[in-house]
Amino acid sequence: MKDVKGKVAFISGGASGMGLGMARAFAEAGMKVMIGDIERAPLERAVEELRQKGAEADGVVVDVTDMEAVEAAAQATVERFGKVHVVCNNAGVPVGGHSETCNMRNWHWVVDVNLWGVVHGLQAFVPRIMSHGEGGHVVNTASMAGMYGLRGAGPYNATKFAVVGISETMMAEHSRDNLNISVLCPGIVATNIGTAGRNRADKYGGAVAPSEKDGTAAALAKGLDPDAVGRQVLEAIQDEQPYIFTDPGLRYLIERRTKYILAGYDWAENCKALEGIEQSGLLPG
Ligand SMILES: NC(=O)c1ccc[n+]([C@@H]2O[C@H](COP(=O)([O-])OP(=O)(O)OC[C@H]3O[C@@H](n4cnc5c(N)ncnc54)[C@H](O)[C@@H]3O)[C@@H](O)[C@H]2O)c1
Repeated sequence: MKDVKGKVAFISGGASGMGLGMARAFAEAGMKVMIGDIERAPLERAVEELRQKGAEADGVVVDVTDMEAVEAAAQATVERFGKVHVVCNNAGVPVGGHSETCNMRNWHWVVDVNLWGVVHGLQAFVPRIMSHGEGGHVVNTASMAGMYGLRGAGPYNATKFAVVGISETMMAEHSRDNLNISVLCPGIVATNIGTAGRNRADKYGGAVAPSEKDGTAAALAKGLDPDAVGRQVLEAIQDEQPYIFTDPGLRYLIERRTKYILAGYDWAENCKALEGIEQSGLLPG
């Protein structure tokens, strides 16, 4: 989508961090922006900031774990701006821990926000984007944790691998129409994600303060400026770029994972169980 001026974007988790960076970049490029976020006060501040800069912007309080709320946010976006062209399914929360021992309420929280939140955004917004025929773009926020199994983050990795899987499938499914798909895989970005526990709902155990021992705050503080990510996402939409990596220095993780996977094929080609068996090398789809 080369010409973004006047196009309408919805961004979940847009009141902070990378979502706010996207909102700023989109508004600067002349797009109309609807921010969705679970936190009212930062949402109102973000909308006010964009309006002060002359942008057409609005906000809607939404919990992405709730399909009805996301559907209402999509309806509000179209009522406010007439149509929608871009959806950024960006709201997300971090959960540390090993898959086999992580507290189950945290497991459910991270899956509900990071995976179901993306699915709800796709279900509510993509049919509305496809309905007007002008084309559009989906940006799903995954992570490098969706490309490589980072230690001590099994549940988070699971959700982000799922977001990469959904995005890659949609890239293939929409390769011949006017919907483009990108998956955003950031490295470390200096956002407020370290205090995401403030938004953990009671059903997941309630709000929780960050642990002072875990070093997340110090690591995040050295991360990339989220406004740079916002500008990169805008450029990716204009360039129709499917994979958005924010830290080129992490390329080695993809190379390392590919090497491990291909070693599995080397083993399969020589293992006794498959000796002499002919196969088609085809998959459905
Ligand atoms: N910061 C990083 O280093 C990093 C790296 C890789 C991926 N990510 C991903 O980037 C995305 C954005 O995170 P960020 O780092 O900008 O963090 P952030 O905490 O600054 O922003 C996330 C926003 O999402 C909102 N949110 C949380 N739960 C929500 C819910 N249920 N419904 C609606 N909104 C909700 C928060 O209120 C906040 O405004 C997330 O998906 C995260 O997993 C972050």
